[in-house]
Amino acid sequence: MERKGKKEEKRRKDEDLFKVVDSTLDTRTYYLLFQLSRRLKLKNIYGSISAGKEAKVYPAVTEDGKWYALKIYYVSTAQSKRALEKYTFGDPRFEDIKVNNTKQLISVWARKEFKNLNRLYKNDVRVPEPIYVLENILVMQFIGENGVRAPLLKELLDEEINENLYTDIIDQIEKMVNKAELVHGDLSEYNIMVWEDKCYIIDVSQAIDINHPNALELVKRDIDNINAFFESKGIQVIETEEILRRLKIYQNEDQN
Ligand SMILES: Nc1ncnc2c1ncn2[C@@H]1O[C@H](COP(=O)(O)OP(=O)(O)OP(=O)(O)O)[C@@H](O)[C@H]1O
Ligand SMILES: [Mg+2]
Repeated sequence: MERKGKKEEKRRKDEDLFKVVDSTLDTRTYYLLFQLSRRLKLKNIYGSISAGKEAKVYPAVTEDGKWYALKIYYVSTAQSKRALEKYTFGDPRFEDIKVNNTKQLISVWARKEFKNLNRLYKNDVRVPEPIYVLENILVMQFIGENGVRAPLLKELLDEEINENLYTDIIDQIEKMVNKAELVHGDLSEYNIMVWEDKCYIIDVSQAIDINHPNALELVKRDIDNINAFFESKGIQVIETEEILRRLKIYQNEDQN
Protein backbone atom coordinates (compact mmCIF):
# COMPACT_ATOMS: atom_id res chain seq x y z
CA MET A 1 0.00 0.00 0.00
CA GLU A 2 2.69 2.38 1.08
CA ARG A 3 4.85 1.40 -1.90
CA LYS A 4 2.02 2.05 -4.26
CA GLY A 5 1.55 5.47 -2.69
CA LYS A 6 5.22 6.25 -3.22
CA LYS A 7 5.05 5.19 -6.85
CA GLU A 8 2.01 7.35 -7.40
CA GLU A 9 3.77 10.25 -5.76
CA LYS A 10 6.79 9.81 -8.01
CA ARG A 11 4.61 9.67 -11.12
CA ARG A 12 2.87 12.84 -10.11
CA LYS A 13 6.23 14.52 -9.45
CA ASP A 14 7.44 13.53 -12.91
CA GLU A 15 4.33 14.95 -14.50
CA ASP A 16 4.68 18.13 -12.49
CA LEU A 17 8.24 18.62 -13.58
CA PHE A 18 7.33 20.22 -16.87
CA LYS A 19 5.02 23.15 -16.52
CA VAL A 20 5.11 24.49 -20.02
CA VAL A 21 7.57 22.23 -21.73
CA ASP A 22 7.46 22.03 -25.52
CA SER A 23 6.94 18.99 -27.66
CA THR A 24 10.12 19.36 -29.66
CA LEU A 25 12.23 17.44 -27.15
CA ASP A 26 13.01 13.88 -28.11
CA THR A 27 12.34 10.91 -25.85
CA ARG A 28 15.98 10.50 -24.89
CA THR A 29 16.25 14.12 -23.76
CA TYR A 30 13.07 13.70 -21.70
CA TYR A 31 14.58 10.68 -20.03
CA LEU A 32 17.78 12.60 -19.30
CA LEU A 33 15.78 15.50 -17.88
CA PHE A 34 14.08 13.19 -15.40
CA GLN A 35 17.44 11.77 -14.39
CA LEU A 36 18.83 15.27 -14.01
CA SER A 37 15.86 16.51 -12.05
CA ARG A 38 16.38 13.79 -9.46
CA ARG A 39 20.05 14.53 -9.15
CA LEU A 40 19.63 18.30 -8.87
CA LYS A 41 16.26 18.15 -7.09
CA LEU A 42 14.50 20.14 -9.79
CA LYS A 43 10.87 20.88 -9.09
CA ASN A 44 9.82 22.53 -12.35
CA ILE A 45 11.17 23.15 -15.79
CA TYR A 46 9.52 25.99 -17.70
CA GLY A 47 9.05 26.81 -21.37
CA SER A 48 12.13 27.81 -23.35
CA ILE A 49 13.29 31.42 -23.23
CA SER A 50 15.19 31.14 -26.48
CA ALA A 51 15.22 29.18 -29.69
CA GLY A 52 18.65 29.34 -31.25
CA LYS A 53 19.79 27.31 -34.20
CA GLU A 54 21.45 24.65 -32.12
CA ALA A 55 20.06 24.92 -28.63
CA LYS A 56 17.19 26.07 -26.47
CA VAL A 57 17.45 27.47 -22.96
CA TYR A 58 14.90 26.64 -20.25
CA PRO A 59 14.55 28.06 -16.74
CA ALA A 60 14.28 25.43 -14.01
CA VAL A 61 13.67 25.76 -10.28
CA THR A 62 14.82 23.41 -7.54
CA GLU A 63 12.74 22.21 -4.61
CA ASP A 64 14.40 24.84 -2.43
CA GLY A 65 13.78 27.68 -4.86
CA LYS A 66 17.13 27.96 -6.63
CA TRP A 67 16.97 28.85 -10.35
CA TYR A 68 19.07 27.26 -13.05
CA ALA A 69 19.27 27.68 -16.81
CA LEU A 70 19.17 24.43 -18.78
CA LYS A 71 20.71 24.68 -22.22
CA ILE A 72 19.60 21.76 -24.36
CA TYR A 73 21.46 21.15 -27.59
CA TYR A 74 19.18 19.55 -30.13
CA VAL A 75 20.29 19.93 -33.71
CA SER A 76 23.25 18.65 -35.53
CA THR A 77 23.55 20.16 -38.94
CA ALA A 78 26.35 19.61 -41.41
CA GLN A 79 27.25 23.20 -40.70
CA SER A 80 27.69 22.58 -37.00
CA LYS A 81 29.88 19.57 -37.75
CA ARG A 82 32.12 21.74 -39.90
CA ALA A 83 32.19 24.41 -37.21
CA LEU A 84 33.11 21.84 -34.60
CA GLU A 85 35.96 20.53 -36.70
CA LYS A 86 37.20 24.03 -37.32
CA TYR A 87 37.16 24.97 -33.66
CA THR A 88 38.48 21.73 -32.21
CA PHE A 89 41.30 21.46 -34.72
CA GLY A 90 44.51 22.32 -32.97
CA ASP A 91 42.89 22.30 -29.54
CA PRO A 92 44.68 19.58 -27.55
CA ARG A 93 41.82 19.29 -25.07
CA PHE A 94 39.51 17.80 -27.67
CA GLU A 95 41.81 15.72 -29.78
CA ASP A 96 40.65 12.49 -28.21
CA ILE A 97 37.03 13.10 -29.13
CA LYS A 98 35.90 11.01 -32.04
CA VAL A 99 32.77 12.37 -33.60
CA ASN A 100 31.03 9.72 -35.60
CA ASN A 101 27.38 10.03 -34.83
CA THR A 102 24.84 12.74 -34.35
CA LYS A 103 24.16 12.21 -30.66
CA GLN A 104 27.82 12.26 -29.79
CA LEU A 105 28.26 15.39 -31.84
CA ILE A 106 25.57 17.29 -29.95
CA SER A 107 27.02 16.15 -26.64
CA VAL A 108 30.44 17.45 -27.63
CA TRP A 109 29.03 20.97 -27.87
CA ALA A 110 27.46 20.74 -24.42
CA ARG A 111 30.67 19.34 -22.95
CA LYS A 112 32.78 21.97 -24.66
CA GLU A 113 30.56 24.72 -23.33
CA PHE A 114 30.71 23.26 -19.82
CA LYS A 115 34.52 23.00 -19.92
CA ASN A 116 34.89 26.51 -21.25
CA LEU A 117 32.48 27.91 -18.65
CA ASN A 118 34.47 26.16 -15.95
CA ARG A 119 37.77 27.54 -17.15
CA LEU A 120 36.32 31.05 -17.38
CA TYR A 121 34.51 30.87 -14.05
CA LYS A 122 37.64 29.65 -12.23
CA ASN A 123 39.57 32.56 -13.69
CA ASP A 124 37.03 35.12 -12.46
CA VAL A 125 35.56 35.95 -15.84
CA ARG A 126 31.92 36.84 -15.29
CA VAL A 127 30.01 33.92 -16.81
CA PRO A 128 27.08 31.86 -15.48
CA GLU A 129 28.44 29.39 -12.92
CA PRO A 130 28.60 25.94 -14.54
CA ILE A 131 26.63 23.39 -12.52
CA TYR A 132 26.37 20.14 -14.42
CA VAL A 133 26.47 18.54 -17.83
CA LEU A 134 24.63 15.40 -18.90
CA GLU A 135 25.00 14.41 -22.55
CA ASN A 136 23.31 17.22 -24.53
CA ILE A 137 22.08 19.14 -21.47
CA LEU A 138 24.14 21.86 -19.81
CA VAL A 139 23.04 23.25 -16.43
CA MET A 140 24.27 26.67 -15.30
CA GLN A 141 23.46 29.55 -13.01
CA PHE A 142 20.36 31.44 -14.08
CA ILE A 143 21.10 35.07 -14.93
CA GLY A 144 18.01 37.01 -13.93
CA GLU A 145 15.42 36.54 -11.23
CA ASN A 146 12.56 34.15 -10.55
CA GLY A 147 12.82 32.59 -13.97
CA VAL A 148 12.76 35.94 -15.75
CA ARG A 149 16.02 36.26 -17.63
CA ALA A 150 18.20 39.35 -17.64
CA PRO A 151 18.22 41.39 -20.84
CA LEU A 152 20.87 40.93 -23.49
CA LEU A 153 23.16 43.89 -24.14
CA LYS A 154 21.28 44.20 -27.43
CA GLU A 155 17.99 44.64 -25.57
CA LEU A 156 19.02 47.46 -23.22
CA LEU A 157 17.48 50.89 -23.56
CA ASP A 158 19.86 53.51 -24.89
CA GLU A 159 19.93 55.27 -21.54
CA GLU A 160 21.06 52.08 -19.82
CA ILE A 161 24.15 51.87 -21.99
CA ASN A 162 27.14 53.71 -20.58
CA GLU A 163 30.90 53.81 -20.42
CA ASN A 164 31.08 51.71 -17.25
CA LEU A 165 29.38 48.86 -19.01
CA TYR A 166 31.81 49.18 -21.90
CA THR A 167 34.81 49.14 -19.56
CA ASP A 168 33.36 46.14 -17.73
CA ILE A 169 33.10 44.18 -20.99
CA ILE A 170 36.62 45.10 -22.10
CA ASP A 171 37.89 43.99 -18.67
CA GLN A 172 36.18 40.63 -19.14
CA ILE A 173 37.77 40.20 -22.58
CA GLU A 174 41.19 40.98 -21.10
CA LYS A 175 40.72 38.48 -18.29
CA MET A 176 39.40 35.89 -20.71
CA VAL A 177 42.54 36.09 -22.82
CA ASN A 178 45.22 36.92 -20.28
CA LYS A 179 44.06 34.74 -17.39
CA ALA A 180 41.77 32.02 -18.74
CA GLU A 181 43.68 31.94 -22.05
CA LEU A 182 40.51 31.61 -24.09
CA VAL A 183 39.05 33.59 -26.97
CA HIS A 184 35.25 33.75 -27.12
CA GLY A 185 35.00 33.74 -30.91
CA ASP A 186 31.34 34.77 -31.15
CA LEU A 187 31.18 37.80 -28.91
CA SER A 188 28.61 40.47 -29.65
CA GLU A 189 25.65 42.31 -28.08
CA TYR A 190 23.69 39.04 -28.54
CA ASN A 191 25.96 36.97 -26.29
CA ILE A 192 26.26 39.29 -23.33
CA MET A 193 23.60 39.55 -20.63
CA VAL A 194 23.40 42.50 -18.28
CA TRP A 195 22.26 42.00 -14.70
CA GLU A 196 22.55 44.53 -11.88
CA ASP A 197 24.86 46.71 -13.98
CA LYS A 198 27.26 43.86 -14.62
CA CYS A 199 27.85 42.02 -17.85
CA TYR A 200 27.74 38.25 -18.10
CA ILE A 201 29.44 36.56 -21.04
CA ILE A 202 27.36 33.66 -22.40
CA ASP A 203 27.34 31.16 -25.27
CA VAL A 204 30.94 29.99 -24.93
CA SER A 205 30.74 26.58 -26.62
CA GLN A 206 32.90 27.73 -29.51
CA ALA A 207 35.55 29.50 -27.40
CA ILE A 208 39.09 28.49 -28.32
CA ASP A 209 42.50 28.36 -26.69
CA ILE A 210 44.70 31.41 -27.29
CA ASN A 211 47.22 29.11 -28.99
CA HIS A 212 44.72 28.14 -31.67
CA PRO A 213 45.86 29.38 -35.11
CA ASN A 214 42.72 31.52 -35.55
CA ALA A 215 42.75 33.01 -32.05
CA LEU A 216 44.12 36.44 -32.89
CA GLU A 217 41.80 36.91 -35.83
CA LEU A 218 38.79 35.90 -33.71
CA VAL A 219 39.61 38.06 -30.71
CA LYS A 220 40.03 41.01 -33.06
CA ARG A 221 36.59 40.34 -34.49
CA ASP A 222 35.12 40.04 -30.96
CA ILE A 223 36.56 43.42 -29.98
CA ASP A 224 35.46 45.01 -33.27
CA ASN A 225 31.90 43.81 -32.64
CA ILE A 226 31.79 45.28 -29.14
CA ASN A 227 33.37 48.54 -30.28
CA ALA A 228 30.93 48.87 -33.18
CA PHE A 229 27.97 48.36 -30.84
CA PHE A 230 29.10 50.94 -28.27
CA GLU A 231 30.17 53.39 -30.94
CA SER A 232 26.69 53.18 -32.46
CA LYS A 233 25.35 54.21 -29.02
CA GLY A 234 27.61 57.24 -28.89
CA ILE A 235 30.08 55.83 -26.37
CA GLN A 236 33.73 56.71 -26.77
CA VAL A 237 35.55 53.44 -27.37
CA ILE A 238 39.19 52.38 -27.10
CA GLU A 239 40.71 51.51 -30.45
CA THR A 240 40.83 47.79 -31.22
CA GLU A 241 44.59 47.94 -31.76
CA GLU A 242 45.11 49.44 -28.34
CA ILE A 243 43.04 46.76 -26.63
CA LEU A 244 44.87 44.08 -28.60
CA ARG A 245 48.20 45.40 -27.36
CA ARG A 246 47.15 44.62 -23.79
CA LEU A 247 46.54 40.99 -24.68
CA LYS A 248 49.01 38.17 -24.16
CA ILE A 249 48.06 36.64 -27.48
CA TYR A 250 49.06 39.80 -29.36
CA GLN A 251 52.29 40.19 -27.44
CA ASN A 252 53.15 36.56 -28.23
CA GLU A 253 52.44 37.16 -31.89
CA ASP A 254 54.71 40.21 -31.84
CA GLN A 255 57.70 38.23 -30.65
CA ASN A 256 57.42 35.76 -33.52
N1 LIG B 1 22.57 31.41 -17.82
C1 LIG B 1 21.50 31.95 -18.40
N2 LIG B 1 20.53 32.51 -17.65
C2 LIG B 1 19.44 33.07 -18.22
N3 LIG B 1 19.22 33.11 -19.54
C3 LIG B 1 20.15 32.57 -20.35
C4 LIG B 1 21.33 31.96 -19.83
N4 LIG B 1 22.06 31.51 -20.87
C5 LIG B 1 21.38 31.83 -21.98
N5 LIG B 1 20.23 32.48 -21.69
C6 LIG B 1 19.22 32.97 -22.66
O1 LIG B 1 19.14 32.04 -23.72
C7 LIG B 1 19.52 32.65 -24.95
C8 LIG B 1 20.30 31.66 -25.79
O2 LIG B 1 21.49 31.28 -25.13
P1 LIG B 1 22.84 31.10 -25.92
O3 LIG B 1 23.26 32.37 -26.53
O4 LIG B 1 23.81 30.43 -24.99
O5 LIG B 1 22.43 30.04 -27.01
P2 LIG B 1 22.23 30.20 -28.59
O6 LIG B 1 22.40 31.60 -29.05
O7 LIG B 1 21.04 29.44 -28.94
O8 LIG B 1 23.51 29.50 -29.02
P3 LIG B 1 23.82 28.51 -30.18
O9 LIG B 1 23.03 28.94 -31.39
O10 LIG B 1 25.30 28.71 -30.31
O11 LIG B 1 23.46 27.21 -29.64
C9 LIG B 1 20.30 33.89 -24.58
O12 LIG B 1 20.18 34.87 -25.56
C10 LIG B 1 19.65 34.30 -23.29
O13 LIG B 1 18.48 35.05 -23.57
MG1 LIG C 1 23.69 33.15 -28.42
